[in-house]
Amino acid sequence: MGIKIKLAAAAVSILVISGCSNNKQADEEMDHSQMNEEMEEMDHSTMGDMMEGHMSHDEVMMLNDSTGANELKIPSMLVSDNDQGVEYTVRAQKGKTEIFDGIETETYGYNGSFLGPMLRFEQGDKVKIKTINELDDPTTFHWHGLEVAAAVDGGPHDALQPGEEKVIEFEVTQEAATLWFHPHPEGKTSEQVYNGLAGLIYIEDENSKSLGLPNVYGENDFPLIFQDKLFDDKKQLNFSAAKNDDGTIGDTLLINGTLNPKLTVNKEKVRLRLLNGSNARNYTFKLNTGDPFVQIATDGGFLNEPVTLNEVTLTPSERAEIVVDFSQLDTEKDLALINEDGSVLLPFEISDQGGTVTRIPGVMNDFSLTEEEMDLPVTKKIELFGMMDMVTINGKKFDPERIDFTQQQGVTEVWEIYNKPDMMGGMTHPFHIHGAQFKIISRNGEAPPENERGWKDSISVAPDETVKIAIQFKHKGVYMFHCHILEHEDNGMMGQVKVE
Ligand code: C2O
Ligand code: CU
Ligand code: CU
Repeated sequence: MGIKIKLAAAAVSILVISGCSNNKQADEEMDHSQMNEEMEEMDHSTMGDMMEGHMSHDEVMMLNDSTGANELKIPSMLVSDNDQGVEYTVRAQKGKTEIFDGIETETYGYNGSFLGPMLRFEQGDKVKIKTINELDDPTTFHWHGLEVAAAVDGGPHDALQPGEEKVIEFEVTQEAATLWFHPHPEGKTSEQVYNGLAGLIYIEDENSKSLGLPNVYGENDFPLIFQDKLFDDKKQLNFSAAKNDDGTIGDTLLINGTLNPKLTVNKEKVRLRLLNGSNARNYTFKLNTGDPFVQIATDGGFLNEPVTLNEVTLTPSERAEIVVDFSQLDTEKDLALINEDGSVLLPFEISDQGGTVTRIPGVMNDFSLTEEEMDLPVTKKIELFGMMDMVTINGKKFDPERIDFTQQQGVTEVWEIYNKPDMMGGMTHPFHIHGAQFKIISRNGEAPPENERGWKDSISVAPDETVKIAIQFKHKGVYMFHCHILEHEDNGMMGQVKVE
């Protein structure tokens, strides 16, 4: 831990003057003395360090435009070890990957040198996974969004030492969704994910197979894992050099590990399963032409109805499935998926083939938030606060020995999550809970937007925003809840709920 510092009034005004672009003009109204008191209690290495790092987070480095030089890589689908059932072997490995032509970058991956395969489950499957740690450091295997017992959830208590292996078993009870898996070792999650440990999980069910949506993997149904990296001059990831305590941000986008990706599609409806797998960057996805698309699924399942949008924002760990209808777009024009600021994320190349006829049904699910759930009293309060390594939940940092909350298995409770602004205005924290999918009741007292009226396991919480969610755990054990800016998680912005 760093040296304790006390923020003097003078230092506070320097921070305010040096100005962050997102400070929401709230500075004057903020109670600086209260801020000082709280920040006094926290550790930090140096003042200069904090200012520099935090400012670079606010004035977020733009991404380089994708040149479209390389066809998008599609993660392979993992094959079961046993043709009688679903048995997978997942190895965390280190390796070398040719991300840039002719250059080897040292990376991590699952069953390969970079990223991982896609694990496909069907609702009702009894799954067995042999997890093996072939890294030189402890790691865990966390199934983000999966409703399983805490004993197999792969949180920080379940570290496998180098060379160790462990078989886990669970039954898939939840509905069709796009989930993912990544490591979760205490204090090391950001580095291991940054180096390449992340993979996809698809759950399919009777509903998803009968809706008629595009579902041919790699043909009209594509996963897109968005991750930004900062390569050093030797084109290495060099996490310790790139690291920012407020979340590591890079200028180079990789989609599914592909540098300068392009995607070739037919003139048909194309389903894109977007996953923000970045350590910290938020994305607002839109088409360069301004044309609309539809969102069909949230983190944990289908929306009841398709929602037409011009853009969709995802904070780290959130997913959205969207369908772009290339048969309806002007394919004479250059088409691309772009970010809010205009940077080109994924250019599309349109083949002259017509492709398959698929549909987007008007009704896709029966998700509901009942009056009863909406009327439940708030029984758990979460206050997110701070920045850099001074991040806390309810004023505390993670302690693996401390249980912050308890909740009964199978009982729905309402959690209220508040993001308390700081003297610089604060920043959005993506809040995630393990082992359950939840429902958003409200954002600042208002019903959530239509594209958030579905199952969620992560939610963006803007500065000074209060969100209410209804959550029920189907299994028992100790689960993590935390900010999914991975450096915030590693810096202790995490707590534990024990489900009994
Ligand atoms: Cu994506 Cu605690 O996890
Ligand atoms: Cu998780
Ligand atoms: Cu955070």
